[in-house]
Amino acid sequence: MKGNNRYNLIAITLHWVMAFAFFAMLGSGVAMVNFEIDPSFKFKLYQWHKSLGVLLLLTFFIRIGWRLFHKPPALPSTLKSFDIRAAKLGHIALYTLMIAMPITGWIMVSTSVYGLPTIVFGWFEWPHIDAIAGNDTIHELSEEAHKILGWVFMAMIAAHIGAVVKHYIFEKINLLPRIGIGRTK
Ligand code: HEM
Ligand code: HEM
Repeated sequence: MKGNNRYNLIAITLHWVMAFAFFAMLGSGVAMVNFEIDPSFKFKLYQWHKSLGVLLLLTFFIRIGWRLFHKPPALPSTLKSFDIRAAKLGHIALYTLMIAMPITGWIMVSTSVYGLPTIVFGWFEWPHIDAIAGNDTIHELSEEAHKILGWVFMAMIAAHIGAVVKHYIFEKINLLPRIGIGRTK
């Protein structure tokens, strides 16, 4: 049935826009913390990372809201039941990370002793969580969580892409048209 086995246009657009944004977030995060960069550029990179991160936090709610009210297309009947369960669990983990990353980032900047404001792309100020301002313990925990979850997120994305490649190579199942890449049969 042509056209019936792909996600709808809104889901596909959100998937790809957010996928590229998350790649940029992971890349900028690792660069900010680990690379030697010029201090003025570093400051700009932090502002950019926090700005895009806040927009991703807001977009998450649109995405999850849309997902809850729109059923995904039925999976190919040739997929093994183990793989179906693994995909469901993997997708839940990805959604959890998509919300946990910006929340831990927000907690981290809210508790920082520097108290630097987050001006989202010079457009509006994103508030800090005042109730936890200056709390060192929460700061350290959120910093550690943001770092560890960042690596877990990278591993989950690698597994997600790896699964698409594995189904294509070993089972000749092409999942990409479901998410808008190429034609459905
Ligand atoms: C090159 C990168 C990527 C490729 C090739 C890719 C591919 C796909 C494909 C083919 C599906 C449909 C799965 C199905 O058959 O139902 C899918 C769904 C999904 N992708 Fe990706 N993806 C990529 C990056 C990402 C990233 C970075 C994230 C996380 C931020 C992500 C999160 C998801 C989620 C949560 C779903 C499940 C949608 C749902 O049913 O709720 N993807 N992806
Ligand atoms: C939306 C998804 C986000 C992703 C995927 C992400 C990813 C990362 C990664 C991978 C790092 C490097 C961690 C390390 O190696 O220590 C990092 C650092 C950082 N992130 Fe995020 N981040 C996100 C959102 C946010 C948000 C919303 C904020 C704040 C509003 C934020 C603030 C920071 C700060 C301040 C650092 C530097 C931490 C340090 O200097 O130790 N992030 N981020």
